[in-house]
Amino acid sequence: MDKNIAIAIDGPAAAGKSTVAKRVAKALGFTYIDTGAMYRAVTNAVIKRGLNPQDEGQSEMVMQGLSIDLLPDGRVICNGEDVTQVIREPLVSGNVSYIASYKNIRLALVEMQRKMAESKSVVMDGRDIGTYVLPNAQVKIYQIASVETRAVRRYEENLSKGIPTSYKDVEDDVRKRDYIDSHRDFAPLKPAMDSVLLDTSYMSIDEAVDAVLKVVKDKTGAERIC
Ligand code: DC
Repeated sequence: MDKNIAIAIDGPAAAGKSTVAKRVAKALGFTYIDTGAMYRAVTNAVIKRGLNPQDEGQSEMVMQGLSIDLLPDGRVICNGEDVTQVIREPLVSGNVSYIASYKNIRLALVEMQRKMAESKSVVMDGRDIGTYVLPNAQVKIYQIASVETRAVRRYEENLSKGIPTSYKDVEDDVRKRDYIDSHRDFAPLKPAMDSVLLDTSYMSIDEAVDAVLKVVKDKTGAERIC
């Protein structure tokens, strides 16, 4: 019998999914998989090669032989290069939704994501995890927050990382990504039918983590190990 547990956390940009997913994974001793970082790594690879991220054919070219490693310490390695920082910069954030709308790129990344979840218990966050990547995940959370809350959070995160941005640009980017992510043809952002809605607009991180852990316990029996 398969004892591995999969927890899918989906939702719009900057809803705090990665913060919550990371903490939930740590509490349970599961592996955290940040699928957004994979789309960002591809976007960065496209830009680095001087290709146009708004051109599907050009963008697909970087997938040939592309490797992405998500290290346990949170570093993201693409083709042997540490891209952890650069994939959070505005140039990548502003173009990643185009890359995420290309079917062949999605199929390749989804295959990698399914392999990563094959033989261990995981917490995977993204947009299509519960609906498409891991439809049999035992726990599916759809995490949301108001646009303003999300923009403030992302703006403060950027400031703390020394990434220069204006609040207006961050809010525009969040709105734009919401639109593109939920209107693409293939595997668009939407809640899985069997997902639990978690609105974190007025929740602290601890409260959101506890809420997810409660759902996990109810559905699987798995509990905090630390
Ligand atoms: O979570 P994030 O902001 O790092 O995600 C970056 C982009 O990648 C976002 O615009 C949506 C896209 N994405 C996706 O389409 N599917 C996923 N599973 C994860 C991210």
